[in-house]
Amino acid sequence: MKLWAGRFQKQTDELVNSFNSSIGFDARLYKQDITGSMAHARMLASCGVISQADAQRICAGLQQILLDIEAGKIAFSAENEDIHMNIETLLTERIGDAGKRLHTARSRNDQVALDFRMYLRSETGSIKAMLLELEDTLVSLAEQHQNTVMPGYTHLQRAQPITFAQHLLAYGSMFRRDITRLEDCRARMNECPLGSGALAGTTYPIDRFQTAKALGFDAPVANSLDGVSDRDYAIELLSDLSLIMMHLSRFCEEIILWCSWEFKFIELDDAYATGSSIMPQKKNPDVAELVRGKTGRVYGSLMGLLTVMKSLPLAYNKDMQEDKEGVFDAVDTVKQCLPVFTAMLATMHVRADHMRAAASHGFLNATDCADYLTKKGLPFRDAYKVSGRLVYYCTEQDKTLERLSLSELQQFCPLFSEDVYEALALDTCVGQRNSFGGPAPAQTQVQLDALRAFLQEHREEPA
Ligand code: ARG
Repeated sequence: MKLWAGRFQKQTDELVNSFNSSIGFDARLYKQDITGSMAHARMLASCGVISQADAQRICAGLQQILLDIEAGKIAFSAENEDIHMNIETLLTERIGDAGKRLHTARSRNDQVALDFRMYLRSETGSIKAMLLELEDTLVSLAEQHQNTVMPGYTHLQRAQPITFAQHLLAYGSMFRRDITRLEDCRARMNECPLGSGALAGTTYPIDRFQTAKALGFDAPVANSLDGVSDRDYAIELLSDLSLIMMHLSRFCEEIILWCSWEFKFIELDDAYATGSSIMPQKKNPDVAELVRGKTGRVYGSLMGLLTVMKSLPLAYNKDMQEDKEGVFDAVDTVKQCLPVFTAMLATMHVRADHMRAAASHGFLNATDCADYLTKKGLPFRDAYKVSGRLVYYCTEQDKTLERLSLSELQQFCPLFSEDVYEALALDTCVGQRNSFGGPAPAQTQVQLDALRAFLQEHREEPA
């Protein structure tokens, strides 16, 4: 029999039962549901709404249900629709009248909002911890590669020489923003909707501040309608997860390129690569490709929930039950991707020799050639032209800038002298890029120190 059977003359159609039911996916909220109910019961007792004895029976009953769920002893039913009614029904079966008093001054609308917030708050913390691990891996890789020269690209064309450390630390900066975004999201999420009731609060003398505090929230949600109808926190988290996936996907794209025969900048560890069922020579970057591919489903969940929420009138609408699967899937996906990506990164073999060789061809020092002349007094625009003409000459002659003789160089501009060779050397080109944030080892050291300090500090922050 339905908890809400009183008003109805007929049984629910079986099609409606299975269509309406969310237990198939919201069962994962069981712990939050039980924790929330215990805090609610204790608050009701301390406010004199139910007796202390009933509150104790409720808490003991819920504690036992929690153990039984975790021991796999409970089979939830679609007849009871969702996790909230499944647990309440079980409780009442076990402890009788006290169980029936639990739902005083509460609705499933504030209950589900509470459970979802608590669940996502905890997942936000787990994902942040995984990002910190990834950052640790980036820091130690970057540390080893501050002098590993590689081509920097724009338009995927060789542009200027950088180091592998500089490249890795760019991702370090992205994931650092992701970490702070999760912290910001958590801070806004961390308000307690319990006590909003169905939509209009309650006539009982409840203490929302007590439950908020007991459940680790910073404050109760200020408005009861907002308390039950807001899903901003889930959308905000999905946006943050989408950005994380976008960053991972860009990184994966590069890893896929780098381990191709065309680049050969890295080789994936055998344990993090896969073979082909027909081509014996193949070593495929499946992990990186899958992470790149899974980005799509996380974006999909973000778009899905934004669309569910669009145009919903206040306050709760059943449409909002559609919030969960996409968010759960996005959380699961990110939690699956981060550790395997980090492990793949930590174990890959870096071909510093190939990176350097690639940086030696493609005129990555053409800007440095122009800068050399500029520093000798030529206006930059004129120096740029000289360097451009030299590049053209070299492509015709199949030469590189640093292989031209001094007299050849001087035919293009008399300002060239013997020190040009030093200026055009790869290590000089990188080492001289010592502007703040640049790839010179002195600057990557500054970035590394700052990132390390950030990680230290943010290990302690909640989320
Ligand atoms: N299973 C529902 C959900 O996920 C719980 C809230 C239902 N409230 C209601 N009045 N039908 O949204």
